[in-house]
Amino acid sequence: MDKKFFDYIIHGGDYNPDQWIDTPEIWDEDMRLMNLANVNSATVGIFAWSMIEPEEGVYNFEWLDEILDKLHENGKDVILATPSGARPAWLAQKYPEVLRVEANGIRNEYGVRHNHCLTSPVYREKVRNINTLLAERYKDHPAVKMWHISNEYCGECHCELCQEAFRDWLKAHYKDLDELNFKWWNGFWSHKMTDWSQINSPKDRGENHVVAMKLAWKRFVSDSHISFYENEIAPLREITPNIPITTNFMKMYDGIDYQDFAKHLDLVSWDNYPAWDRGATHSEAVETAFVHDNFRSLKDGQPFFLMESTPSIVNWHEVNKIPKPFRQEQSSVQAVAHGADSIQYFQWRKSRGGHEKFHGAVVDHCGHENTRVFKEVSHLGSVLQKLDGVVGKGYNGKVAIIYDWQNKWATSVFCGYNNNERDYLGECVKWYKPLWEKGIAVDVIPMDADYGKYDLVIAPFLYMLKDGTIDRIEEYVRNGGNFVAGYLTGIVDEDDLCYLGGFPADKLKDVFGIWCEETDSLPEGIKNTVSYKDKSYKAVNFCDILHANTAETLGTYEDDFYSGSPAVTLNSYGKGKAYYVAFANEGDFFADFIEELSEKIDLGASPFRIPDGVSVVKRDEYVFVMNFADEEKNINLDREYEDVLNGEKVSSLNLPICGYAVIRCL
Ligand code: GAL
Repeated sequence: MDKKFFDYIIHGGDYNPDQWIDTPEIWDEDMRLMNLANVNSATVGIFAWSMIEPEEGVYNFEWLDEILDKLHENGKDVILATPSGARPAWLAQKYPEVLRVEANGIRNEYGVRHNHCLTSPVYREKVRNINTLLAERYKDHPAVKMWHISNEYCGECHCELCQEAFRDWLKAHYKDLDELNFKWWNGFWSHKMTDWSQINSPKDRGENHVVAMKLAWKRFVSDSHISFYENEIAPLREITPNIPITTNFMKMYDGIDYQDFAKHLDLVSWDNYPAWDRGATHSEAVETAFVHDNFRSLKDGQPFFLMESTPSIVNWHEVNKIPKPFRQEQSSVQAVAHGADSIQYFQWRKSRGGHEKFHGAVVDHCGHENTRVFKEVSHLGSVLQKLDGVVGKGYNGKVAIIYDWQNKWATSVFCGYNNNERDYLGECVKWYKPLWEKGIAVDVIPMDADYGKYDLVIAPFLYMLKDGTIDRIEEYVRNGGNFVAGYLTGIVDEDDLCYLGGFPADKLKDVFGIWCEETDSLPEGIKNTVSYKDKSYKAVNFCDILHANTAETLGTYEDDFYSGSPAVTLNSYGKGKAYYVAFANEGDFFADFIEELSEKIDLGASPFRIPDGVSVVKRDEYVFVMNFADEEKNINLDREYEDVLNGEKVSSLNLPICGYAVIRCL
């Protein structure tokens, strides 16, 4: 869980000196400014392919040699990128197969980035070649400390090569066509396949109603990205076995199973762009915290890198509001609290032209250090130096929330119940919020993780069950675990076939002591209510209608024909407890329910009271206290602590808007 790649928190970001090749004086100015900004690293070369290989087989590494040397002379670490995220025009022109084909069957023209086929042997070969050359040339360069592979892998390709690869993937995953026809339920609408060549990728003008096939396609695309990545890194692993490898993930992007991809990385990194200060700061902070916890959990609590963030604005929101002063600093400290060992920006210097010229950067078009943003970045750099003690320290929570990538796919592709409200992430975050508010550390895990180390496992909307999950839940509860399931649990298996014999699947009916006979879906404006411990809570969107067998009924519906039937149940099973919360709620129920559970089970809540909108996160011996409310907050601590940033002793904290403190026990 602990894992250290550097002795200090990395502070830097995307650096594109190749855009300033004609003005070398700017490179020198960058070095001066980086020192002033307390920046200790630069990520170089992300989209630099056409600068390195301007013509096929003609290479120009001199500029890269020079900038890496300059960075080294100035004491900066380099995270060196491979350039596959965007390609030179000559490459696409000469080898059109490298370009993507969209689901409409039309091949894209050259342009933008992430526009490559994941299967194309030519593209794979070209990527391997340029990566080999980079690795050979810089394997002993003292500045190069990490590889940044490509950039934000994403998208899919529907070309003939990919169709054929999909069919091969299917052949490897199903015994034969009979098995595929059964698992895809192809008797429906006369869809029985008699030859593999009849199968194409899902698309609007073709097949898009075979749900299991859509799920298979998502798995195939995810595997294609991983196999593309494995091809990219093969020369790096061989030539530079001691240089760690990462690639930057995009929040909860669902086109790739990050829980699977993470197994192939040395460390996880991600790009964080919250929409701060739009009137919902508290909720933005909760969701961002959940995402950080997800990335820390991808490698079992190991620290991650925050590969990108903006020091001021982005350019891709509809309206790009400037966050409040010091919000970026607070946001960065939040990342460190949740396990980040780096704070990096997109980008160091604003581009002069092009699509991202109005995106925030450390150095603005004015070119000097006398800006609010630059000063804040520099201040943050000095703060991070005081937090070096956390570097390498990972952690796990006592509570896990199951957010499973493949379940996300399954919940998004089926047709039925409430087709408008399938916000799996939102549902998980609603459960997470009361835990965040109590300062309880949470891991975000896939359904096939080890539940054994958690005192409480919460599984919202666990609609699809991967093989083995039923046994895993049963065993966990039997051995004394506390498991909470939400609505629509255990409906389909890994191939999207419904479980027969009643929901939830198979022996989960015994574990939870219930049977779900029907599920009601509530259109907007229509609600039910649930009576639970003398209070009434709104039920929205989904209401499972249950029969309690061995379970105790803790809460009941109050309206409609199922009024009086169970909405919250508790079953004692083996040495453990299994709760079923049958309805969707806007949040107040979860807050009260978690409050009760935390009175029964020690979940590691904060030892001092946390005011609304304030977050308390413990990483190693450091306690991060952050005010995300829209007003100043006073916090009375349970004892005297040392304020890590100024060395003083404190027994209370006064935090302004955007304020934070880092304290530790004396
Ligand atoms: C990221 C991307 C960067 C830059 C940034 C702008 O998603 O990796 O290259 O485009 O967005 O916010």
